[in-house]
Amino acid sequence: MIAAGRIVRLAERDRAAVHFFLDGQMRTALAGDTVLTAMLASGHALRKSEFGPEPRAGFCLMGACQDCWVWQDEGPRLRACSTLIREGMRLRTTPPESWP
Ligand code: FES
Repeated sequence: MIAAGRIVRLAERDRAAVHFFLDGQMRTALAGDTVLTAMLASGHALRKSEFGPEPRAGFCLMGACQDCWVWQDEGPRLRACSTLIREGMRLRTTPPESWP
């Protein structure tokens, strides 16, 4: 079962499940999802804004606006709207300098 999120799947709901971790919490996506789709189909935001308290959810969805950066446990950030989710991926909503 995929938890309800900001976006709702209307089609292609029978693709294989892919598990990933977001801030240490396991979530489920579908094979072929972008990271952005995976995060917003299982939650309500991508990350917090660095300019205010508002949560961000991406804007252009095509690699142009830079609103969808998220971080990998290994440190490097990635653009969520142009990166495919992979099994076991470990993602964070905040940059490494804020990690404990
Ligand atoms: S949502 Fe605009 S670059 Fe990803």
